[in-house]
Amino acid sequence: MTWWKLGAALAALVAIGTQDRTPIWSPDELEVFRTLSIDGLGPPPADPSNRVADDPAAAALGRALFSEARLSSNGRISCASCHRPENGFTDAVPTGHGVATGTRRTMPVAQAVYSPWQFWDGRADSLWAQALGPVENPLEHNFTRMEVARVLGTRYRGQYEQLFGPLPDLSDARRFPRRAAPAGDKHARNAWAGMAAADRHTIDRIYANFGKTIAAFERTLPVRPTRLDRYVAGVTGKGPPAPFAPAEAAGLKLFIGKGRCVSCHSGPMLSNQGFANTGVSERGGLPADSGRADGARKAIADPFNCKGAFSDAKGGGCDELEYLVVGDPRQVRAFKVPSLRGVARRAPYMHSGQLRSLEQVIDHYNRAPAAPRGTSELKPLHLTRRERAELVAFLRTLDDAEGAGHAR
Ligand code: HEC
Ligand code: HEC
Repeated sequence: MTWWKLGAALAALVAIGTQDRTPIWSPDELEVFRTLSIDGLGPPPADPSNRVADDPAAAALGRALFSEARLSSNGRISCASCHRPENGFTDAVPTGHGVATGTRRTMPVAQAVYSPWQFWDGRADSLWAQALGPVENPLEHNFTRMEVARVLGTRYRGQYEQLFGPLPDLSDARRFPRRAAPAGDKHARNAWAGMAAADRHTIDRIYANFGKTIAAFERTLPVRPTRLDRYVAGVTGKGPPAPFAPAEAAGLKLFIGKGRCVSCHSGPMLSNQGFANTGVSERGGLPADSGRADGARKAIADPFNCKGAFSDAKGGGCDELEYLVVGDPRQVRAFKVPSLRGVARRAPYMHSGQLRSLEQVIDHYNRAPAAPRGTSELKPLHLTRRERAELVAFLRTLDDAEGAGHAR
């Protein structure tokens, strides 16, 4: 018996002897814990639509492009402006600030590779298709794909050409206008519409390749073990004991039991990677948001999806898109079930930052308000004040084990 197994046995005896609220876990509970552990995560799933997904040279270029502020209309916004590496790749504001202020809350990036769908409404079916959205979003980078091709040509030509072959000569301003995109302002749209179809295709291809390098970088971002992972290793005899405070352990019990949280926040990412309407309010002043109902339609229409002309998945490999359902009433105001890893450091919460604190989130689940549109999947939980505090204490254990401020 290793020393920690002996220790765990002793701790169990002590727990039996005292009348505290440290639970003694049943075999079933221990089984659920194992499903939540980072040990079950494995490497990121393969992306057949991106041939450079695991190419280190593509990841190196993607890393540089992720913080390249030249890829914005004002020269000041990059992906990293909102997805701040030092802040869990988020920005601590209710809705992201780019060239202007957006309508949804910035999402963390490191965990995204484990989801088949990107954005709160899942309107992109890969990381590379996702990366093309913010660049042409007038509130975010407010840039155009033509300008992206130019930045690649002037600043990253060598790196790009090694991966994807020669970039075309874009100096003929009549063939390749300075600013052109199928969406965005009227000027950019008109310029795009005036281009030859073959030239548009060339620029689209470069734009897709740009996204593929960013995806390759995002795939390298580590998901770090949390205190929960250490705790599970301890109680299942796979590692040294890493005890929880009694309130944290009681919160874990509620999370997998009375709180029914694991029905959606399941698996090693604490997300079933699905979408659910949880009755979150619509924030005043923002346009109506139907969530997954619109996202599913957009994913199918996206020319950069897994089945499109710029995907490297030939003859299959697009099952998620193949079986995607549209028009299901449960998709109305359903949003992506977020991973809860690192959640304590990501306030405010929900798709438009509607809730300020974890206390407010738990209060929301406890009350289970009716949805503004569609039907909420939640039921009131009737938690006591103490149980609510215990759930919050548990959510705080989902931070990096090395994270700040944990007295152990
Ligand atoms: C202005 C702030 C801002 C900028 C700049 C920005 N993002 Fe985001 N990001 C967001 C917001 C807000 C969302 C959620 C948007 C939505 O659901 O419509 C998001 C969502 C994402 C997601 C989806 C994660 C998931 O789990 O579904 C990824 C990945 C991502 N961004 C990567 C990027 C990349 C790559 C860039 C640069 C090309 C970028 N972002 C630029 C704010 C920003
Ligand atoms: C029916 C599925 C479902 C259940 C059950 C559920 N959640 Fe969620 N959770 C979601 C969805 C979907 C969101 C995002 C909702 C939105 O933004 O509109 C979310 C968001 C959250 C967030 C905010 C995360 C962030 O980054 O904004 C926290 C924290 C959270 N849930 C914790 C819990 C806890 C604790 C429980 C149990 C009491 C629970 N959830 C039960 C689906 C669920």
